[in-house]
Amino acid sequence: MLFKKKEIHVDSRLSHIAFIMDGNGRWAKKRAMPRQFGHKQGAKSFERIVRECNRLGIKTVTVYAFSTENWSRPKDEVGSIMELLSSYIDRAQDEKDIKFVFLGDKSVLREDLQKRMTDLEEKTKDRPNTLNIAFNYGGRAEIVHACNELIAEGAESVSEKDISDHLYTSASPDPDLIVRTAGECRISNFLLWQCAYSEFYFTDVLWPDFDEKELHRAIENFYKRKRNFGNVTEK
Ligand code: FPP
Repeated sequence: MLFKKKEIHVDSRLSHIAFIMDGNGRWAKKRAMPRQFGHKQGAKSFERIVRECNRLGIKTVTVYAFSTENWSRPKDEVGSIMELLSSYIDRAQDEKDIKFVFLGDKSVLREDLQKRMTDLEEKTKDRPNTLNIAFNYGGRAEIVHACNELIAEGAESVSEKDISDHLYTSASPDPDLIVRTAGECRISNFLLWQCAYSEFYFTDVLWPDFDEKELHRAIENFYKRKRNFGNVTEK
């Protein structure tokens, strides 16, 4: 007998989901493979999960692909993540509905990569769904960058909205749900300003094993939460 796969419904309560894609190195180590192999599998999971989020109707997806701290990793490993981004940019041209936004400081990246990132952003800027790729990104650096922009504009005092409007994510709503894989329960300098009222979902599953079923589990868990944004609700 055939059982129909349970379909999951997403509504406007979940318009933005963000992922800290952790555990690629451990996934590779378990298989006695180099860490780069884990990132390669992680990149496959990333593409699958982005596609599934789109299919479910989630308007904005953000992923943490490379942090400002990741430069301290071995040169080979850093190089392999740059190559994964580069080859993803080639494939990204075929995604019809996605607007690509890179969060972070591009200026220190390879010049050809910078150009292709900017071209992709420009070419896709009128599309309906957003994929934010945090690359050479740090939450504190992002807030400092926003403040420096405001100073350069001559601001004498600033509001929360001014800061939000100068973050790399200015065109996106704050994340409703932040998922972190691989068992660590910390934020690691990701979306520090934007996560003020986000729900968090932590799972032991390593990122390369995080598939559609795991995504659905995270979403189902999110819908069981009662969000009150600092307000009072009946228990
Ligand atoms: C953290 O796992 C993961 C990263 C630092 C890189 C994430 C990159 C990808 C998933 C693929 C690249 C995708 C794009 C779009 C460029 P870790 O290496 O810290 O894992 P560990 O804690 O098990 O060592």
